[in-house]
Amino acid sequence: MKEKPIILGIESSCDETAAAVICGRKLLSDEIISSASVQAQFGGVVPEIASRAHTDAVDEVVARALISAQVKKEQLDAVAVTYGAGLLGALLVGLSFAKGFAYGLNIPLIGVNHIRGHLAACYLEDETLKPPFITLLASGGHTAVIYVKTETEFEVLGSTRDDAAGEAFDKVARVLSLPYPGGPHIEKLAREGSDSVPFPKMLKGLGGYDFSYSGLKTAVINYVHTKEQKGEVYSRADVACSFQKAALDILAEKAVEGAQEKGVNTVAAGGGVIANGYLREKLTAECKTAGLKLVLPERKHCTDNAAMIAAEGLVQYRAGNFAPLSLNAQASIPLR
Ligand code: KG4
Ligand code: ZN
Repeated sequence: MKEKPIILGIESSCDETAAAVICGRKLLSDEIISSASVQAQFGGVVPEIASRAHTDAVDEVVARALISAQVKKEQLDAVAVTYGAGLLGALLVGLSFAKGFAYGLNIPLIGVNHIRGHLAACYLEDETLKPPFITLLASGGHTAVIYVKTETEFEVLGSTRDDAAGEAFDKVARVLSLPYPGGPHIEKLAREGSDSVPFPKMLKGLGGYDFSYSGLKTAVINYVHTKEQKGEVYSRADVACSFQKAALDILAEKAVEGAQEKGVNTVAAGGGVIANGYLREKLTAECKTAGLKLVLPERKHCTDNAAMIAAEGLVQYRAGNFAPLSLNAQASIPLR
């Protein structure tokens, strides 16, 4: 087994068709073709449209990744591909392509759990990063504080009891008539507002590491609807700013608490919501106060991408965990 294998990563679980090449933990290329603007017209991802877009894009995105990495396909040591969680039709496009590639080149196929990919993005950011550490995961489907014991062993300290953080951003964005995906639009609008609407803090007093977003989401929806029904003037920017703060402060606080409880000196993060500038600043400030090192993947490696799939592919390669060509796509899979 090579110390620094060259791995092609392929991602097609939702609306991004992506391919990336790494050599060890060094990122050689990172390509993406997104159907998000098409999906935005429908206010969310339409599975059949996503599958067709992947079919159109996968060949080109892989070719681009190999060319910009200056790697010939014969030089690859393995192909890593997302096999779940995600939209089944979308996953099958990337998975079938990866199987053909691995079989044709006679190299191992590695099946990657998308969520583990989000966690592995931090390994590309800091080539020296080693467990144990705490990871804050915040994506469209998951929100959790995770104790990473080793590269392949995790303990979930707490997670959302209802909506995920990204889901709450998307739902609140809809109420504020902002396009899908809502997170970046709320972040932009929030910059023009102030934290002046007293939305509830989520489960703050309960202790533990669990989150709940449904109460906050309902409070925002009720506030907006009441104002509109009464014909009262209100600031959408203030709503965005106040919601963002209520939704994100607690994530940074819980991540730091987790690190202190487990006695580790590093906090890492992953998932689309970690691209949020306010959350990044809050995490930076909280970790600085607590004397903790913080590893944040660059923004484009927080939202869906193939670099993180290649990075988790490296973890699995080193663990000798290769997949048979019968590997099937799965709509949902647990973290482990
Ligand atoms: O990790 P991701 O790209 O896909 C999943 O695996 O779910 O996360 C997508 C989620 C969406 O809900 C999106 O609104 C949110 O991440 N998101 C953000 C930001 N960028 C993306 N949320 C808040 N602020 C952002 N800047
Ligand atoms: Zn994702």
